[in-house]
Amino acid sequence: MTAKPVTPLVEMDRAEVIAGNGFAGQDILSVSQFNRENLAYIFDKAQAMRALVETDGMSDLLRGNVLTCLFYEPSTRTSASFIAAMERLGGSVIPITQGVQFSSVSKGETLADTVRTLEQYSDAIVLRHPEIGAAKIAADYAEVPVINAGDGAGEHPTQALLDLFTIQQELGRIDGLKIAMVGDLRYGRTVHSLTKLLTQYDVTLRFVSPEILRLPLVVMNEVIDAGIPVRETHDVADVIENADVLYVTRVQKERFVDMAQYEAVKDQHEITIELMAHAKERMVVMHPLPRVGEIHYAVDHDPRAAYFRQVRNGMFIRMALLAAVLGEK
Ligand code: NCD
Repeated sequence: MTAKPVTPLVEMDRAEVIAGNGFAGQDILSVSQFNRENLAYIFDKAQAMRALVETDGMSDLLRGNVLTCLFYEPSTRTSASFIAAMERLGGSVIPITQGVQFSSVSKGETLADTVRTLEQYSDAIVLRHPEIGAAKIAADYAEVPVINAGDGAGEHPTQALLDLFTIQQELGRIDGLKIAMVGDLRYGRTVHSLTKLLTQYDVTLRFVSPEILRLPLVVMNEVIDAGIPVRETHDVADVIENADVLYVTRVQKERFVDMAQYEAVKDQHEITIELMAHAKERMVVMHPLPRVGEIHYAVDHDPRAAYFRQVRNGMFIRMALLAAVLGEK
C-alpha cells in the first residue's frame, strides 16, 4: 500500500464506536447476530470507510491492534480484504493463510490450542475452517473476538454483509426486490448466510440449482417461516426476466465425495450475454467469487455485472466490522 498521511478519523472516534454499536468485543459467528438496525449501522460505517479510503487511504483508528487471520482453507479475497481492512485502519496482521499444513496444526495441535496460542499475540482472530461449527468452537475457547470467515458448508457472515451492502449500493434499496440465487445452494455457505439475512427484508426469493444442490431444508424453513414468497427451479431462464439481483455461485467441488456427481452438475448454469439480453435494464449480477465458468467473461463488460465492485465493498464492510468489534478497549 502506498504510504498516505495518517489522518485520525474524526467522525469515527472510539467514543462513537462504543456508543453506536453493540459489537465491541463480540464474536461474529453467524448472520443471526444481525438485525436491520445494526445492519444499517454497519452499512453507514462502511460508507464512511469508503470515503476514508477514497480521501486519505487510511486512518489510525485501530493502531496498536493486531489481527490474526487463521485460514485452514484456501482464500484470496476474504483473507486479502481482512488484511487490507486492518492495515487501512492502522492495525497489523498475523497472516496464517497459507501452508497451515506446515504449522503446528499438521503436528496434531487442536483448534482449541491453536486459538488459545494465537490470542496471546492478537486482539481478534479471523478463522476459516472446513468444518461447520468450527468458528463457534474457536470462540468458546478464545477470549478475544473470533470472526467466522467461512465454516465449511455452514456460514460466511462477513460475505453476506458485503453482499447485502452491494445490493443496497447498486439498487438503492433491499425491500421490494426479487432476488434469484443460482448454482450450488446446498454447499454454498455464502448463499446460506445471505438467504438468512434477506429473511429480515420484504423480498421475493428464487432458487435455481441442480436437483442435488438444492437449498438445505433448514435454511428453506427459515425463508418459509419468515413468510417470504419463494420458488425453486432448475433453469435460470425461468427467473432472468423478473430478477433484480442474480446471485451466481460456483459448484463447491471440494465438498463432493463423488467426483462423477460433481462433473455431472458443474456446468449446468452459465450466465451468457445472450441470457443477459432477457434481464431487466436495471438489475445486478453478483458472485462471491472465485468463478469457474458460471459467468462468461463477455458479461464482465455489462454495467450490470457488479462482482468486482462487490469485492471492493468487502473491504469497506470488513473495515466497518473490525472498527465495531475492536473499537472499544
Ligand atoms: C466463497 C467461499 O469461500 O465460501 N468465496 C469467498 O469467500 N468470496 C465462495 C466460494 O468459494 O465459492
